[in-house]
Formats: sequence, C-alpha cells, structure tokens
Amino acid sequence: MKIYLTKDYDSMSKKAAMILAAQVVTKPESVLGLATGSTPIGIYELLVKWCSSKEISFADVRTVNLDEYVGLDADNPQSYHFFMRRHLFDGVDIPLNNTYLPDGAAKDPQEECLRYERLLSSLGQVDIQLLGLGHNGHIGFNEPGDSFSLGTHVVNLADRTRKANSRNFGSLDAVPCKALTMGVGTIMRAKRILMVVSGADKAETVSRAFAGPITPAVPASVLQLHPDVTLVGDESALSCLLKEEKPL
Ligand code: GLP
Repeated sequence: MKIYLTKDYDSMSKKAAMILAAQVVTKPESVLGLATGSTPIGIYELLVKWCSSKEISFADVRTVNLDEYVGLDADNPQSYHFFMRRHLFDGVDIPLNNTYLPDGAAKDPQEECLRYERLLSSLGQVDIQLLGLGHNGHIGFNEPGDSFSLGTHVVNLADRTRKANSRNFGSLDAVPCKALTMGVGTIMRAKRILMVVSGADKAETVSRAFAGPITPAVPASVLQLHPDVTLVGDESALSCLLKEEKPL
C-alpha cells in the first residue's frame, strides 16, 4: 500500500487529482470508478480545470459510480446523479452516456442491482476506483455488519451515515433510509484503489481501517487485502494511522 501524506485538504485534492489525471493520460479509454461525498469535490474541481485548459480529456473515458440513494431520480438535487453532473460531468468533455450510476428511482431496486452488476461486467475491469471513507468505516454505502457483501445490493443506511449526510438534505427526515451500492466484492475487483481522506474527524477510522483487524465491522479494512491501494490523506486524517506505524 502506498500512503501520501499531504499538508491539507487542497494538497490532498491535488495529489489525488494528479493520480487520476495520470491514469487518463496514460490510458485515455480508462474505466474510472468514482465516488461522491464532500472529500472528492476538490479533486473534481481540478479535473474540470485541467480539462478546460485541454491538459486532459475525458472524451474516451467511461465512469461508474459506487452508489445512489433509493427513491431519488437523477434530477433530484440530492441524488448522486445530480452531484456528479454538478461537480464533474458537466465540466468535462465526457459524453453523459459514458457515465453510469445505479438508478435510485428504479421500480425494482433488487433487479436494478443485478442490472448494474451486469453493466459493470460488460464494461470490464475498473482501472482505478476512487473511494472516500465514512465515519463508521463504510466504503460506497457498505455499512458495518457481520459479513462483507459481494455484489451491488440494497442497504439500510446506518443512523450515523444518515446523520452525517443530512447536511446535504436540510433535515434528517429527508435523508433516504436505503441506498444501492456496489458491494465490497465489486469494489475489490478494481485494478487499483485510490482512497482520499481529510480532517481530524476521520483519523480514528483511517487507523481502524488500515492498522486494525480486517473485519466487516469496519468495511474499509477489507482494502488491506487489495494488492494496489493508494491512500492520500492530509495530516489530520492520517494522524492516528501514522502514530501506529512502528519506527524502522
Ligand atoms: C457517503 C458516500 C461515500 C462517502 C462518504 C464520506 O456516505 N456514499 O461514498 O465516502 O459519504 O463522505 P465525506 O467525504 O463527505 O466524508
């Protein structure tokens, strides 16, 4: 595992954006796995900037997103479809029909999970999967539990996740109770994983994920088993993890 320690949120965003840009430059037809949440916003801003100045192009890129809320359609401003258009897709030269997310408004969410898995298989291996980290150790919307879920599935969102995400909804009651998410198995199939973390409120979770036991109680801990993980985090987010590192 590679760890990049950066000074602050902006330098974290720049390092991670450079890794994604390098992927796109070296393989223009890359399949990028993308994430939502506040952490990747700075990365997306830079990618939009570099695309506007023609330093990179997304013309041949295909993207797949981790997750979506059940019950929200693509035009709902709280949906992850909307988030991705607002923060990335509308600002770069990617054809919208090369961008894929699970459909939160699908009539049959279970069927939608199967459709999304089939779609992912048809696109081939994700070249690099960007991940944020939930405060309870979730990745995508894989909440802590008794076992790791393999494929795309419907989840009941944990209270802590709904509370954290209520900042985007105005009130807790407005936050959907369910979501569709790639499974841990789906995420682990990616060739490379790029996790980004920022802020002291993530420090303990980062340490549990990467220096603690591998357990479904901390879903991100499964990444310890992935052969190619890059963690980019600022000083506050990595403070506990780096304390755990034994001196050589
Ligand atoms: C949501 C998303 C996750 C994201 C997490 C952390 O729950 N489903 O993919 O990693 O939020 O978000 P933030 O970056 O805002 O802390």
